Amino acid sequence: MPATRFIRSANDNDMQVLAAIERRISPLPWTEHQFRESLDAHVVIIMEFNGVTAGYLVYSRTLDEVELLNLGVDLPFRRSGIGRQLLDYCINENRNFAVRIYLEVRAGNLPAINLYTGAGFVQVGARKGYYQTARGAEDAEVMAYDYSPARP
Ligand SMILES: CC(C)(COP(=O)(O)OP(=O)(O)OC[C@H]1O[C@@H](n2cnc3c(N)ncnc32)[C@H](O)[C@@H]1OP(=O)(O)O)[C@@H](O)C(=O)NCCC(=O)NCCS
Repeated sequence: MPATRFIRSANDNDMQVLAAIERRISPLPWTEHQFRESLDAHVVIIMEFNGVTAGYLVYSRTLDEVELLNLGVDLPFRRSGIGRQLLDYCINENRNFAVRIYLEVRAGNLPAINLYTGAGFVQVGARKGYYQTARGAEDAEVMAYDYSPARP
């Protein structure tokens, strides 16, 4: 049987699973409480792979700006295009409302920076010592995707 991928909105029943994935994959994991708050205040999207939660995306929209707040893919599902598919979903869903999407990413998070760069995001700023990880403070890169980038 071919593998099936399915993107849907998250609901209350997903929150524990998302927090468990976060603990596996993030040096600064969101708690179940943070995911629940996001469910009320933001947009939370799930990618199911053969019925299993493989990845998630959280973003907020304020007027014509979107902030990508979290994006994660569980370990067994990495490098199969799920992260890119979730990111493309965010770009396409907001195409008619937003002028730009921005996000913050740990400066040492090469997989994520490559993912965002490949989708058309560019670095627009930096925040020194923004993340307090177990290994000490780490800088953040601020990246943005412009729907109508200024061309030289
Ligand atoms: C970043 C993350 C979401 C990527 O998810 P993924 O499903 O494995 O990514 P994809 O398969 O869609 O890969 C898309 C591109 O991202 C980049 N990429 C992904 N993983 C990479 C890695 N380990 N090393 C280098 N580049 C990588 C590549 O450019 C890749 O394109 P390619 O496969 O054509 O080379 C995943 O590694 C993850 O969940 N990391 C932990 C959470 C995190 O850092 N989230 C971002 C918060 S800002």
